[in-house]
Amino acid sequence: MLAPAKINLALHVTGSRPDGYHELDSLVAFAEHGDILTIEPAGLDYFEIVGPFSAALSADEGNLVTRALTLARRLSAEHGESIPPLSITLDKRLPIASGIGGGSADAAALLRLIQCALPELGPALSDESIALGADVPMCLLGQPARVRGIGESIEPWSCFPRVPLVLVNPGVAVSTPAVFRGLVRKANPPLDPFPARSLTPRLLADVLLQTRNDLQEPAEALAPVIKEVHRSLEAIGALFTRMSGSGATVFGLFASDEAAQQAATSIRATRPDWWTLATALSAAG
Ligand code: C5P
Repeated sequence: MLAPAKINLALHVTGSRPDGYHELDSLVAFAEHGDILTIEPAGLDYFEIVGPFSAALSADEGNLVTRALTLARRLSAEHGESIPPLSITLDKRLPIASGIGGGSADAAALLRLIQCALPELGPALSDESIALGADVPMCLLGQPARVRGIGESIEPWSCFPRVPLVLVNPGVAVSTPAVFRGLVRKANPPLDPFPARSLTPRLLADVLLQTRNDLQEPAEALAPVIKEVHRSLEAIGALFTRMSGSGATVFGLFASDEAAQQAATSIRATRPDWWTLATALSAAG
């Protein structure tokens, strides 16, 4: 099961709550690449993390995949079902703590696999998935959407084009709570309504020019290298660049797959120490 990278195309922080969380108004879409989660019945529960970013994670009970399985087991017991012991393998291809979903996408992939096997658990899993993290419900939907509240209010965005893009992470892990703490204004205006027309990559770039990621400035204050990533993507012809989530991954939109591939090749050649991926936002509708 693909656990696709989640991209916040826009992220407006519209308020703060007494529990420390922030109200958001965000446009999210999902890439064609991500981590890969596989599960199979086994004699005993087993969880293994492999892949390029596996070393930075431990497969313990704090891992979001394990926590998602615990949640699914509790809900299945409440529905008179049981989930057998599972062997789980997570191929960790996305950098961690990088603003593109990561752990939330992995947890959502586990929940989606459980939903396939036990469809009657679907609504309960969707409702309770936010307990795992604010990004989990949107990752569980896995479609372009406008997301409000702290992440629980999701309005799918139909009519979304496939858009070539390049993701670049400069290798610094940025702490999400630290970025939120650095926000200068805790309440900013929400997004304008979506355009009803269908979009091309260029039109999407125009729409996004009217929006912001309010977390970009505080993240750049913590990790100034993020500005360098923007400059690299702009220099190579990106139609639009922005940081996703709380960073530090920056996306660049491109007019074609060829342009995205060439840009990724060029950035890899000049900055082999950065993680660079040519992919595309999945279409919807
Ligand atoms: O829910 P999750 O564990 O992903 O959130 C990590 C941290 O990000 C929270 O503890 C909080 O500091 C911050 N956050 C926030 N408002 C949101 C989502 C996350 O302040 N809507």
